[in-house]
Amino acid sequence: MDIRNDMLRRLRNRRDGYSLEQAFYTDPDYFQADLELIWYRDWLFAAHDCEIPKPGNYVTLQVGDYPVVIVRDRQGQVRAFHNSCRHRGSRVCAGAKGASARLVCPYHQWTYDLDGRLLFARQMGPEFDPAQFSLKPVACETVGGYIFICLADEPADFEPFRTMVEPFFRPHRLTEAKVAFESTIVEKGNWKLVWENNRECYHCAGNHPELCKTFPEAPTVTGVQGADGDPEIVAHWQRCEAAGLPSRFTIADDGQYRTTRVPLLRDAVSYTMTGRRAVRKNLSDDVSTDRIGSLLLYHYPTTWNHILGDHAVTFRVLPISATETAVTTKWLVHKDAVEGIDYDLAELTHVWTETNDQDRRIVEENAFGIKSPAYEPGPYSLDHEGGVIQFVEWYCAFIEPRLSGSGKPALRSVA
Ligand code: FES
Ligand SMILES: [Fe+2]
Repeated sequence: MDIRNDMLRRLRNRRDGYSLEQAFYTDPDYFQADLELIWYRDWLFAAHDCEIPKPGNYVTLQVGDYPVVIVRDRQGQVRAFHNSCRHRGSRVCAGAKGASARLVCPYHQWTYDLDGRLLFARQMGPEFDPAQFSLKPVACETVGGYIFICLADEPADFEPFRTMVEPFFRPHRLTEAKVAFESTIVEKGNWKLVWENNRECYHCAGNHPELCKTFPEAPTVTGVQGADGDPEIVAHWQRCEAAGLPSRFTIADDGQYRTTRVPLLRDAVSYTMTGRRAVRKNLSDDVSTDRIGSLLLYHYPTTWNHILGDHAVTFRVLPISATETAVTTKWLVHKDAVEGIDYDLAELTHVWTETNDQDRRIVEENAFGIKSPAYEPGPYSLDHEGGVIQFVEWYCAFIEPRLSGSGKPALRSVA
């Protein structure tokens, strides 16, 4: 049977509140459908503005089969292009990042301006019209220090996301921060398993001794239900909002993204072993309030984030294959913070380096077990895994109409 019909049938027969059938986590053809129907259609977090502060700075990333380059042009605007030369298709920028006044293809030196126009192509004859061979653009938007790209010809409207998160992120000035450290790990599990693991803290007490020193495992913190009925969280919102920091739990109608500010445990202000700050300088000059907890943001399918008073930890998920997923973590600090003086890099990165490795092992064990012919979908905990249920519902609601060719995602109520 045709793969898309097979997927559709399984989605329609899916038991609510249960994990997905094996093929969704293991089958290369299902993975290809995920790429084509989710990853090549939705907005994706690519990088931070502060990683390309000057004209000519660029970063590259690989989304499925698409290499993409993101560059700051001479006017300071962030642009994205397909990283495939218009001559014979070579990747133009090979490195993960760099700086260059022009983008020069290494193969035959076709040379592009930072706005993608072909400036120079040696000895192509009198008929050759460079204007026909600009780099192909990729849709690109920035908000709150985050660069998003979309590979679709007709991207979904970015404005609702911008409108929602801008006020939350503006005070934290991530646009002007710097990346103190980044790491990329490959988890041997499907991208949806990485997300399912992220969307609950049912596993935290048993797996994350470092994170649990400061981060609450309460489902009202990680999940999508009950935050406004949790007096500690409501008091935290009120205190932070009085200090000019938008905080209240907010979620998109279709569930694709949500942001909220949550308190940390006891007197903790940062993700360190003591709970004390890791960076002497605040992340933002506009935020002087202590104990602002963590501003959380997720945006499916690429990113979850924790913005603290002294630093931010941001995560980017990129699928590699049906059973491999790259997770890139970046630690952002104030641009003037100096390593060794304002922060100790090992202390800054310890908790999430350990936590990432623990999560990698969990996801890999999960993937191993799901490969068993004896696996069958199992029930999520309503108390602890509301966030996972919501993620899976988002996935189903987005991919189902695209599989059946009926267009826009079906709106579902939040779990
Ligand atoms: S492929 Fe780029 S210059 Fe030839
Ligand atoms: Fe975890």
